[in-house]
Amino acid sequence: MTNSETKATLSFSDGSPSLEMPIYKGSIGPDVIDIRKLYGATGKFTYDPGFMSTAACNSSITYIDGDKGELLYRGYPIEQLAVNGGDFLETCYLLLNGELPNAAQKEEFVSTVTKHTMVHEQMQFFFRGFRRDAHPMSVLVGTVGALSSFYHDSLDINDPHHREVSAIRLIAKMPTLVAMAYKYSIGQPFVYPRNDLSYSANFMHMMFSTPCEEYKVNEVLVRALDRILILHADHEQNASTSTVRLAGSSGANPFACIAAGIACLWGPAHGGANEAALSMLEEIGSVDNITHFISQVKDKNSGVKLMGFGHRVYKNYDPRAKLMRETCYEVLQELGLQDDPLFKLAMALEKIALEDEYFVSRKLYPNVDFYSGIVQRALGIPTALFTGIFALARTVGWIAQWKEMISDPEQKIGRPRQLFVGAAKRDVVAIDKR
Ligand code: SDX
Repeated sequence: MTNSETKATLSFSDGSPSLEMPIYKGSIGPDVIDIRKLYGATGKFTYDPGFMSTAACNSSITYIDGDKGELLYRGYPIEQLAVNGGDFLETCYLLLNGELPNAAQKEEFVSTVTKHTMVHEQMQFFFRGFRRDAHPMSVLVGTVGALSSFYHDSLDINDPHHREVSAIRLIAKMPTLVAMAYKYSIGQPFVYPRNDLSYSANFMHMMFSTPCEEYKVNEVLVRALDRILILHADHEQNASTSTVRLAGSSGANPFACIAAGIACLWGPAHGGANEAALSMLEEIGSVDNITHFISQVKDKNSGVKLMGFGHRVYKNYDPRAKLMRETCYEVLQELGLQDDPLFKLAMALEKIALEDEYFVSRKLYPNVDFYSGIVQRALGIPTALFTGIFALARTVGWIAQWKEMISDPEQKIGRPRQLFVGAAKRDVVAIDKR
């Protein structure tokens, strides 16, 4: 970032001395006002619940322009990466290293990831401690956090090699753990990864093979899954990424930090929205019920939200939602499900919402979660696992952001303050006098 000539001057109506603060310019996007000296100079904090106007870090990984509906991974538009930018592991390499790999670099990266896809056999005992109907996100929070107990050889966060090894292990093992969570939930045996399959084909193999029948790789479906992973790979300083950064700022090991990110992603306002959006469509059931449902959404007392719509940053169409809808159509076509009633319902609901003043005035558009459930359901992925797939994809973004933070000389332990509105100092009164 560059320190621009312009400065921000903060003046106070109570006659307190004004304060000048430097303004920094990034390469693209909004400038920032450096307020780090504010408290020391004024005894005052800024107040920004939800961090609506706060930049918590500087980063060169992902850029979002919410007004244009633009998403760049290391400068490359998501439309190019998702449609003709190669596969998910190419995007992983880009997010981790800042540049797309050449053929030799890609071959080496793929080989390294492939050779780390197995998990320690002892991991199976963690799964067996869960109920079969445990939510997969609870299993992933537990098992990903537990990974740190197996890799004492790569937990020194100050060692760049350890950071690299941990990043590879997490990217490589997440599909194995997600598939194991699925197999455990349906009472089928775990399926080991295969080194002769691509990353996404290997995941489908671990999900849908059984000892009695090998999964027959369908390249159209595998490509669709790969695109879903690319679309979910990173997204600037969203809630779960900020959680990973905050956990990492204390020096916690990368496996613990990713487990924290998974826990945050689980929420229905964040990654859990894809599961909630599909349940919402199933609950609406038919196009005839859309009008009544929309009236419930507009009724603040109903607590009903249009899941898969709205976004803190996008005040235009989420570019990922467009690509997800195209992927949805391709998959349904491939499977002969082009008349899938839920897809038709989703498109009808989108059309009605985008013409309704309530949504238009609030700049509420479909986000990445609106169509992703329909396409995952068509791929045979159970609804409860949708957010687990999101976590699988986002692991590379989380770990890339974690690595960037750890190697940022500016980073310090994250420790926000507060506006205290509770009881001022008072004395305890004995119970018999209360
Ligand atoms: C993801 O941050 C990221 O980048 C996240 C993500 C990523 O890749 O990491 O993009 C992934 O989490 C996508 C978002 C998935 N969540 C959902 O689809 C859940 C439904 N969406 C809402 O919960 C909401 O839109 C949020 C949480 C996504 C954004 O909330 P904000 O920015 O805090 O906006 P807000 O709640 O202040 O809403 C502004 C207005 C309010 O109405 P008014 O008080 O102005 O009258 O819009 C309304 C809200 O009630 N509103 C909705 C709505 N979303 C916002 N009304 C109905 N349905 C919705 N979905």
